[in-house]
Amino acid sequence: MDQTASDALEAPFVQAFEQGNAGRQAIAAGSPPLLSITGLTVVVAGQPETRLLDAVQFELRKGEFFALVGESGSGKSVLCSTIMGVASSELKCLGDIHIEGRPLAEIDRRLRAMIYQQPSLYLNPVRNIGFQLRETVQMIGGLSKKEASERAADLLCDVGIDDPKETMRKYPHEMSGGMNQRVMIAMALAMKPKLLIADEPTSALDVTTQKQILDLLERLRSDMAILFVTHDLGVALQRSDRIGVLYAGQLVEIGRADLVARTPLHPYTRALFSAVPPLSRHPRRLHSPAGTLPEPTQRQAGCNFASRCSGTLDICRHIAPVLQGTPQQVVACHNLEP
Ligand SMILES: Nc1ncnc2c1ncn2[C@@H]1O[C@H](COP(=O)(O)OP(=O)(O)O)[C@@H](O)[C@H]1O
Ligand SMILES: [Mg+2]
Repeated sequence: MDQTASDALEAPFVQAFEQGNAGRQAIAAGSPPLLSITGLTVVVAGQPETRLLDAVQFELRKGEFFALVGESGSGKSVLCSTIMGVASSELKCLGDIHIEGRPLAEIDRRLRAMIYQQPSLYLNPVRNIGFQLRETVQMIGGLSKKEASERAADLLCDVGIDDPKETMRKYPHEMSGGMNQRVMIAMALAMKPKLLIADEPTSALDVTTQKQILDLLERLRSDMAILFVTHDLGVALQRSDRIGVLYAGQLVEIGRADLVARTPLHPYTRALFSAVPPLSRHPRRLHSPAGTLPEPTQRQAGCNFASRCSGTLDICRHIAPVLQGTPQQVVACHNLEP
């Protein structure tokens, strides 16, 4: 990107970041990570060359809102389901995932919860909301039916539903997408999770409902870490503390949201952030640079972006770059400008 374009981006991006949440300061720098992922590689069983994730590495701290962006097919959902421990059985995971210092296999499943783009697919269509929420609450707490009903109603109030008793009588098909997403969040909260994984939870919602759900997540974040997958760069910038950019299974850049947007270091991140006006009224859908994402079966040794990059060096085709940089921003690229 030339200097003029970069200058043009700077002011509105900083403004968008500053308009964002106030919770950013609350994260205790230097506190031990809540989630720690090292060298996470996911392959299709029996096809070791088919890498869906390749040496993914990052940490999240309590109170942090981390946005994960990357075009469709880059492995965001595979990453989410792997952290949740619900990845499909034909996938093989190598590397380490720790929560509060303990390996995933040893920790209580309920420490993490996930919400999805289409909550109606995950809610039971033939049970009313009250039944489903009560069931979740009882699974956790050993409460009586009456106590579980009261807890369920409280949870619905917590997620901004004004008439919890009435809502509990309804079935998912009688509710809007936004209301069902609130119910999913209430179910997630019933688990008292320390890590909330949100895989494009607002992509199917209208702008007003999207904002309400984002505001809700923001109120919740002080008690947990949030891994938020989004296609909307404006949402990532306004709401997150840090942004991670996933490209073809490789995390190519991670950094403080304003830095990633204002001074992106990876050529792919630069292409993403230069392609969209940051403060437009419309959702800033992820706009990909020319070329196509290599399929998992076609990924070669080296940097997966090499085939689309204008600055490819010989080394890029043979050796995958590792993340390096400052505590505020790291990038995996062999061809960094001085
Ligand atoms: N169970 C699976 N077996 C084989 N390939 C898979 C499986 N699940 C996902 N993939 C492939 O992994 C890649 C990443 O998928 P996904 O994580 O859903 O992408 P994203 O969420 O970033 O759009 C895609 O190419 C997808 O086809
Ligand atoms: Mg996905």
